[in-house]
Amino acid sequence: MEMYKKLFWAVLQGFVLLPTIATRDSHVTNRKLVDVPQFERPIGNHTFHIGREAVLGCSVINLGKHKVGWLRAEDQTVLSLHERVVLGPRYSVSLDTPSTWQLRIRPLKAEDRGCYMCQINTQPSMKWQIGCIDVYVPPDIINEETSADVSAHEMDNITLICKATGHPPPKITWKREDHELMLLKKVGARDFYKVESYVGSSLPLWRVDRRQMGAFLCIASNDVPPAVSKRITLNVNFPPTVIVPNQLLGAPLGTDVVLECTVEAYPNTINYWLKNRGEMLLDGPKYIIYEERSSYKVVMKLTICQFVKSDIGTYNCVSTNSLGKGEGTLRLYEIKLYPSLQSAAEVNVGGLTEGAVKQKTAHSDSNKNNARTITVLFIINVIFVLN
Ligand SMILES: *[C@@H]1O[C@H](CO)[C@@H](O)[C@H](O)[C@H]1NC(C)=O
Ligand SMILES: *[C@@H]1O[C@H](CO)[C@@H](O)[C@H](O)[C@H]1NC(C)=O
Repeated sequence: MEMYKKLFWAVLQGFVLLPTIATRDSHVTNRKLVDVPQFERPIGNHTFHIGREAVLGCSVINLGKHKVGWLRAEDQTVLSLHERVVLGPRYSVSLDTPSTWQLRIRPLKAEDRGCYMCQINTQPSMKWQIGCIDVYVPPDIINEETSADVSAHEMDNITLICKATGHPPPKITWKREDHELMLLKKVGARDFYKVESYVGSSLPLWRVDRRQMGAFLCIASNDVPPAVSKRITLNVNFPPTVIVPNQLLGAPLGTDVVLECTVEAYPNTINYWLKNRGEMLLDGPKYIIYEERSSYKVVMKLTICQFVKSDIGTYNCVSTNSLGKGEGTLRLYEIKLYPSLQSAAEVNVGGLTEGAVKQKTAHSDSNKNNARTITVLFIINVIFVLN
């Protein structure tokens, strides 16, 4: 570098010699003013994309016998002298006639960001002007500083991190991959709020909830396409919780009865059914065992085919995963369907109350023993299929 500088000054001094002698001899002020080289317009500041070509133009009038040089302003490295390139294969100069000296840099690197000086070897002091280039770099995600897939326990405080390089500095946006709204919570808040996206390098998930589980995308974008993204999966682990929509089931003999439990758990569960706290029920001609899984939810279904008296009893749906065990209890009753049932309405099929007992005062007071008849309302909250 030092060598180039010295060379530049030596050459410049050579260039200035002739015109200086000429003006000193002539003493004609008017003519001297006219002959003085001038910059026609500023170089200006420009923006280019990395890998492309940067072009800076230096327009000079009345150059006469003077020469134009380009330097890197920061360290005064000489890049070109007149139509000759001094440094490197990435630089070139061309004269865009009549008077613009163009410095071209190709392919452009991030290190080329900075200011460049166009000099004319006037005497006693050189004339110069400066123009700067900004090198735009598309975003790139820094994998080492970005979260990998995360596995947490419910109620943990989690922060997902996404870092990216690029110029101008990229904006980081978080979204759910499944396009659902994101559930977020402010520190200390009880309730979630829903957003389509969240902007910021770190995504805080305070007291993480099962509903926040899923794949997230962190998207880095700046003014330079293409935007880039990384997929981060968040798994929230929690022991099974079992919900039984209908705990008390009544059905007439001979029908098929469906028992149902809803399980929430992560990681995935092993599920089974027990009868009267004893035998584990197996899929077969008597029982149809079926599961519907969606994310962390499982709907367990047990169909008891051809309900007979010995099926009456207690059933348990049991769910286990690595964090624990959950179970639900259902009771199965028989509903007696009498052919001559006077008040069929009192067999409350699909009713809302459980095991309600209705006392009914008899209209006749002749027989005191029969003063009250008790009607048991059977509650059937389950789907049953009449043969
Ligand atoms: C060009 O950029 C430089 C450095 O960023 C700045 O100092 C200068 O004021 C800018 N010039 C113009 C004309 O914007
Ligand atoms: C989460 O952060 C809160 C305070 O911000 C703290 O009280 C709580 O203990 C943290 N929970 C866990 C599991 O670290």
